[in-house]
Amino acid sequence: MKDIKFIEVNEEIKREWMNYSNWTDKVNDEVIRISDGWSIIAEKNTEMMGIISVYYRKMDEPFENTVEAYIDNIEVLEPFRTKGVASQLIKEAISRVEKDVTIYQIRSWSSKDKTAMLKLWKKMGFGLCPVLQHYGDVKVPGFFVSKVLYN
Ligand SMILES: CC(C)(COP(=O)(O)OP(=O)(O)OC[C@H]1O[C@@H](n2cnc3c(N)ncnc32)[C@H](O)[C@@H]1OP(=O)(O)O)[C@@H](O)C(=O)NCCC(=O)NCCS
Repeated sequence: MKDIKFIEVNEEIKREWMNYSNWTDKVNDEVIRISDGWSIIAEKNTEMMGIISVYYRKMDEPFENTVEAYIDNIEVLEPFRTKGVASQLIKEAISRVEKDVTIYQIRSWSSKDKTAMLKLWKKMGFGLCPVLQHYGDVKVPGFFVSKVLYN
């Protein structure tokens, strides 16, 4: 899709996005990063189409001096899906993260039922690591995906 603009999300833009999002407000409040990371919205002709949110975190031992960027949220509104919006949001996020050469990798997680997302990660060249996540007693199969940016 041509003529996509990326806009930086602030509290006001976040509230507006939440009117269109399929996620609950509670989920969006957790995953749309502003003060502890950043989020960008893809829009065309002032119409909001999709969002991506990223934050930075130090990894666990023995990599406690290694920082990764974590994509916590990616959503494209239904009328704009399968037109390349998510791909462009991920590319834009990678190009922003790559500017900081201290960031080792970019990572995310998708449950196994998110077939479209998983195919997209593979298409974008992310490594696919199958894992069974434990949320209390609930076990959710899925994949961590990651791409090394600088080594
Ligand atoms: C997953 C999602 C973000 C994809 O957004 P999108 O803008 O439609 O994705 P793109 O158009 O950039 O798709 C690029 C690639 O992703 C894969 N893909 C996207 N939608 C797909 C679908 N419905 N079925 C299968 N593969 C799909 C394909 O590999 C596609 O490449 P292709 O067009 O060459 O086949 C979107 O469907 C969405 O918001 N879903 C609901 C929220 C969600 O699941 N978020 C992820 C949480 S982990």
